Amino acid sequence: MSYFSLYVFAFLLNFIFTFADFVPPARTDHTSVLVDKKLYFSGGDNLNGSLNDFFYLDVSQQFNITSLPWNDITFTGDLRSSGASACSGRNINYLFIFGGRINPKKFVLKYDINNQNWTYVISGRKRPTNRIYISCSKFNNRSIAIFGGYNIEEEEVITNDLWIFDSLELTWNLSNASNALNAPPAIWSYCVITLLDETILYIGGMFYDINNDADILMPLNSLPLYDSTSDTWKSLDTSGPTPPSRRAFSAVLTSDNRIIIFGGLDVGFSTLGDLWILDIATKQWSAGNISNPNGLAISSHTATLVDNYMIVAFGSYNITNESSTIYMLDVSRRDFYTWVTEFIPSTTNFK
Ligand SMILES: *[C@@H]1O[C@H](CO)[C@@H](O)[C@H](O)[C@H]1NC(C)=O
Ligand SMILES: *[C@@H]1O[C@H](CO)[C@@H](O)[C@H](O)[C@H]1NC(C)=O
Ligand SMILES: *[C@@H]1O[C@H](CO)[C@@H](O)[C@H](O)[C@H]1NC(C)=O
Ligand SMILES: *[C@@H]1O[C@H](CO)[C@@H](O)[C@H](O)[C@H]1NC(C)=O
Ligand SMILES: *[C@@H]1O[C@H](CO)[C@@H](O)[C@H](O)[C@H]1NC(C)=O
Ligand SMILES: *[C@@H]1O[C@H](CO)[C@@H](O)[C@H](O)[C@H]1NC(C)=O
Ligand SMILES: *[C@@H]1O[C@H](CO)[C@@H](O)[C@H](O)[C@H]1NC(C)=O
Ligand SMILES: *[C@@H]1O[C@H](CO)[C@@H](O)[C@H](O)[C@H]1NC(C)=O
Ligand SMILES: *[C@@H]1O[C@H](CO)[C@@H](O)[C@H](O)[C@H]1NC(C)=O
Repeated sequence: MSYFSLYVFAFLLNFIFTFADFVPPARTDHTSVLVDKKLYFSGGDNLNGSLNDFFYLDVSQQFNITSLPWNDITFTGDLRSSGASACSGRNINYLFIFGGRINPKKFVLKYDINNQNWTYVISGRKRPTNRIYISCSKFNNRSIAIFGGYNIEEEEVITNDLWIFDSLELTWNLSNASNALNAPPAIWSYCVITLLDETILYIGGMFYDINNDADILMPLNSLPLYDSTSDTWKSLDTSGPTPPSRRAFSAVLTSDNRIIIFGGLDVGFSTLGDLWILDIATKQWSAGNISNPNGLAISSHTATLVDNYMIVAFGSYNITNESSTIYMLDVSRRDFYTWVTEFIPSTTNFK
C-alpha cells in the first residue's frame, strides 16, 4: 500500500467514525450485556417488527445523553431477534446469547469479540430447549445458570429445570436442584442477580399456576435463591414494605450490596415507574427516593449498572409507544437517586 492510499484509508476511517451517526430505533424485549466497558445490545421488537441488529454503547469515556457514543456492529452476523438473554463467560473475549426468537432454533450463540464472528454452540442432546423471556446469570466467574422461561413452540414445555452452562467447555449440566420439592415454578420475565457470595437470586416474573389455570406474578417478599455451592434451592425472605409484584422490569446490584429494581408491568398490565431498593445485608425492601422524578414508567427495557449509573435502555412506555431513549439514574447515594444527563466514568464507586 502506498503512503497515499494509506492516507486515504485513514481519512475514510476517520470519516466513518466521525460522521456515521448510528441511532438505534426504539425497541422492547431486547437484551444487553456489559463487557469490558462496552454495553452491547441485541435485537428486540418494535411496531415495525423484529429487529436483528447488534450494537454497543461505548462507556469507557464521558458522554452526554444528547449525543450517545453508539457503534453499530450488525454487519458481524446473523442474529436473533427478541426475548433472548446475553451473558459473558470466563473469557471476556466471548459473549453468549441464550434463547430468543430465532431460526434455526439453536439455543446458544457465541460471539467472538476480537474476531467479530458468531457461532452456534451445539453441545449434545442434554441441553435446554429454546425459550424466551429468560435471564442468564454468570457465577463462579465461569458457569452460567438458565432457569424457566416462556415456550415459543407449542410442543415444547418449559419446566422448572435449572441448567448450568460451562462457558469454557461449552457443555450443559442439569442441576440436581431441579428435582427438589422447594424448586420455584418455571417463571418468565423475571430478573436475576448473582450476589457477592455467588448465590443467585430470582426476582419477580410470572408463572403458570396449574391449580388455578392462571398466570400468576411471583410475590416479592420471598425470593428463590439458588445456592451454587450446595446445588440447592433456598429462599431469601424479606422485611419492610413489599413492592408490588411485577414482570418485564429491571434489576441491578451495586457494589455496596443494594439491589435496585425499576419499572415493569403489574398485575393489571399497568406500566410501573417505581424504584425499590433491597438491602442485601438487612434483607429489607424500601421505596427508592428519586429526587428529580421525571414521570418515567417503562417495561420490557434493560438496565445495567455502569460505574455510578443504572443505565435504563429502550423498552415500552405503553403497548403502542416504544422507547428509543437511554435514561441514566445516579445510584451512588443510598438516600436519594437522581436522573442525570451526563455519564462520567469513575474509578472509585460509592462514597
Ligand atoms: C418504523 O419504520 C418507519 C419507516 O421506516 C420509521 O420512520 C419509524 O421510525 C419506525 N419505527 C420504529 C419504532 O422503529
Ligand atoms: C472467527 O475468526 C477467527 C480469526 O479469523 C477464526 O479463527 C475463526 O475460525 C472464526 N470463526 C468463525 C465461526 O468464523
Ligand atoms: C475471571 O477469570 C479470569 C481468567 O482466569 C480472570 O482474568 C479474571 O480476573 C476473573 N474475574 C474475577 C472477577 O474473578
Ligand atoms: C457437570 O458436572 C460434572 C460432574 O459433577 C462436572 O465435572 C462438570 O464440571 C459440570 N459441568 C458444568 C457445566 O457444570
Ligand atoms: C447430582 O448428583 C449426582 C449424585 O450425587 C452427582 O453424581 C452429580 O455430579 C450431581 N450433579 C451436579 C450437577 O452436581
Ligand atoms: C428523599 O430525598 C429528599 C431530597 O434529598 C429528602 O429531602 C427526603 O427526606 C428523602 N426522603 C426519604 C424518605 O429518604
Ligand atoms: C399509549 O401511548 C399513546 C401515545 O402516547 C397513546 O395515544 C395511547 O392512548 C396509549 N395507550 C395506552 C393503552 O395507554
Ligand atoms: C411516548 O411516551 C413518551 C413518554 O411518556 C412521551 O414523551 C411520548 O410523547 C410518547 N410518544 C407518542 C408518540 O405519544
Ligand atoms: C447535555 O447536552 C445538552 C444539549 O447540548 C445540554 O443542554 C446539557 O446541559 C448537557 N448536559 C450536561 C450535564 O452537560
